[in-house]
Amino acid sequence: MKITIVGTGYVGLVTGATFAEIGHHVLCVDNNADKIRQLNDLEIPIYEDGLEELVVRNFNNGRLKFSTSIKEGTKFAEVIFIAVGTPPGYRGEANMSYVEKVGREVANNMSSYRLLVEKSTVIVRTSEQLAGTMSKYLKSDIPFEIASNPEFLREGAAIHDAFNPDRIVVGVESEKAAKLLREVYEPIISRSGCEYLEMNIASAELTKHACNSFLAMKISFINAVSRICELTGANIDQVAHGMGLDKRIGPSFLKAGVGYGGSCFPKDVDAFVRMSIEHGYNLDLIKEVQRINIDQREHLMRKLQKELWVVEEKTIAVIGLAFKPGTDDIREAPALYFVPELLSRQAILRLWDPVATNNFRRTYPNLNYCDSIIDCATGADAMLVLTDWPEIQGLDLAQLKTVMKCPIVIDGRNVFSPAQMKRHGFIYDSIGRPTVKN
Ligand code: UDX
Ligand code: UDX
Repeated sequence: MKITIVGTGYVGLVTGATFAEIGHHVLCVDNNADKIRQLNDLEIPIYEDGLEELVVRNFNNGRLKFSTSIKEGTKFAEVIFIAVGTPPGYRGEANMSYVEKVGREVANNMSSYRLLVEKSTVIVRTSEQLAGTMSKYLKSDIPFEIASNPEFLREGAAIHDAFNPDRIVVGVESEKAAKLLREVYEPIISRSGCEYLEMNIASAELTKHACNSFLAMKISFINAVSRICELTGANIDQVAHGMGLDKRIGPSFLKAGVGYGGSCFPKDVDAFVRMSIEHGYNLDLIKEVQRINIDQREHLMRKLQKELWVVEEKTIAVIGLAFKPGTDDIREAPALYFVPELLSRQAILRLWDPVATNNFRRTYPNLNYCDSIIDCATGADAMLVLTDWPEIQGLDLAQLKTVMKCPIVIDGRNVFSPAQMKRHGFIYDSIGRPTVKN
């Protein structure tokens, strides 16, 4: 089958590469000429495990192609996936201008039936707006349809998720659109045995926002419980374990920490709240999720402040710049809150991340980026853990203690255990667990 993907970012590129891998012929279009040049030179613009291998193999066998031309993309295939960004707008609402532009451009260039599939996260009833725009810009009475097929890809595990989805959600309102999308996904359904859900378009659009808001709510819930743990002497690891074994709750997304970040949760939660108000319902439940998330990072800052007393002139080793492990994505990463905050308090920063430093450098070119955790911690008055990279687990704690000026570790991801830190003589404060004073 021929498929066009418009937008070749974290979602579009993974989607395009996996569709090519299962046998489709895919044209990935992006208006960023630099990105398309890189991809045509087989340079992968983002870090995502397993992606390079898929792109190289399918580019070389001719099933995956890249272009800057939406005209070419519109001509190439009957099914066109929209995977351009939907970043937060001025007031926090989802910015739909890129999606709208794709609608206009496809309408301008199409000469026979096209199915536009919303892959990007959009607010419920976007399909109606998109259809309205397309009708206005179409030169003649050419048939088209809109469908919704939200992505549920976790960065860092996106290839795995694309081939082994928990379910595939498709919003369609005609047999023709349903048949086309079944054909797109048939190889993944038969390979993974996953559930394939067809529903109306508004339900599919809403499912995505409801999922991300629910997952964010789970994280804020456990973070709120972690605060009660700190006040009562309970331990969040034990409480979360006890909760997670209840099959109705489940163990995932119960990891307390510095709060959620990334390109999806913060903006999707915000857009969900705003959308619900526009439709006449006040989602205060989810507003509280946002408040807890912001408060959690401020709480970690207060822990650091408390241990250091004065932050000014102190050297802080910041461990982790990506919003989570396995990606170089720094969108809404906790580090983007802590770094300016600590700089404004005259701290001296040393930073480490295994893959995200280049992205961070674009905003902060003149900071001290280190090659290893030990190098980063050398001479530091305190270490601040913001991303749970697996590399941290393998650290030689005796060596870490020796290189630091003062053995203070403030752990926003609970990567160490208090008992282990006590044994090694650290002053250690984490989330929802006893503080180690030594
Ligand atoms: C995606 C979804 O689009 C977003 O809705 C979802 O919530 C998160 O994942 P992502 O792939 O992470 O976004 O975004 P990004 O990596 O920024 O990729 C978007 C791509 O679209 C960029 O390469 C950008 O150049 C391209 N683009 C943007 C276009 O090709 N045309 C445009 O008009 C705008
Ligand atoms: C999310 C969705 O999970 C995915 O289905 C898709 O909709 C895109 O958005 P992603 O943003 O890549 O994926 O990462 P995810 O693994 O969901 O983590 C999001 C944030 O929550 C990260 O900052 C992570 O550190 C945090 N998190 C996650 C926790 O703090 N605790 C947890 O238990 C899980």
